[in-house]
Amino acid sequence: MLITLEGLDGSGKTTCRAALESAFPDVTFTREPTDSWYGDAVRQSINTDDADPLAELFLYTADHAAHISETIEPALDRGETIVSDRYSDSRYAYQGATLADRFEDALAYVREIHQPWTRPPDKTIYLDIDPETAAARSGATNKFETAQALEPVRDNYERLIDAEPDRFVRIDATQPEANLKETVVETVAELPDR
Ligand code: TYD
Repeated sequence: MLITLEGLDGSGKTTCRAALESAFPDVTFTREPTDSWYGDAVRQSINTDDADPLAELFLYTADHAAHISETIEPALDRGETIVSDRYSDSRYAYQGATLADRFEDALAYVREIHQPWTRPPDKTIYLDIDPETAAARSGATNKFETAQALEPVRDNYERLIDAEPDRFVRIDATQPEANLKETVVETVAELPDR
């Protein structure tokens, strides 16, 4: 099965991923942006403050396409359980926000361009945190990491959860780090068919 880890910058995703890696040595771990040249292009864009948001959407989406064909599908074909640190919902939430003034419903547009070919996650762990705490924790190292930028991203995650409540498991990411790690590990341990 394919499990994804989502949340705002500063929600503790990286810490939770590390906890999962030590708890589940048999699971395949991956991430978006990926560790490929497609991912390098994405990272270059993240670090360019005036990058065109539509061009950026397609860079992320290209990285996702390669991730699916080169990593996700082969691992699923081998019967592995995969955890991806960020995945398609990051695009729906983040680019749904950065493109809000270009489309009537940017989130719907971004979903639409994925729909014919993406492989949806079976379960998504959403690390829930308010934009102010998230921005303070993330240290504002890139253009997304301000409370103002994260506010609409969080609204978009809420929209995604409302649309598919059964796919998401919401976890309070403001709890102390040790509890958070434990909760995330327990959540994955309890998933049926893992
Ligand atoms: P990530 O590497 O997860 O950041 P960190 O490890 O610092 O938390 O993601 C980098 C940034 O890219 C983050 O601000 C979220 C953003 N992002 C998008 O806007 N769209 C996407 O599709 C993805 C995967 C990430």
